Amino acid sequence: MKENKEAPRLKKHIFVCTRCTNYKQADNQPYAEELRTELYEELSTKFDRAEVKVTKSGCLGQCKEGVNVVCYPEAKWFKNMSKETIRDFIQYIKTST
Ligand code: FES
Repeated sequence: MKENKEAPRLKKHIFVCTRCTNYKQADNQPYAEELRTELYEELSTKFDRAEVKVTKSGCLGQCKEGVNVVCYPEAKWFKNMSKETIRDFIQYIKTST
């Protein structure tokens, strides 16, 4: 193994568990996928993809907390992400980047 020193230096790398359930939804997985897509599309209009990346994730181990998101480099976790709260998260990314 060798370190890739030419890899992009991301300002934010956001992982969205697209396998999470949401207590408000009967068919959960598409809901989490929709949230990831909305987040990706919104942030793509605001940031260069080389600076902010939104990645689909498998289980993050917090399954009972609704749709989970973790943001690096600060390793900040967000739970119960929803279409109502995603605007607040986007605002967090804008102000913390
Ligand atoms: S399925 Fe999303 S954290 Fe486990």
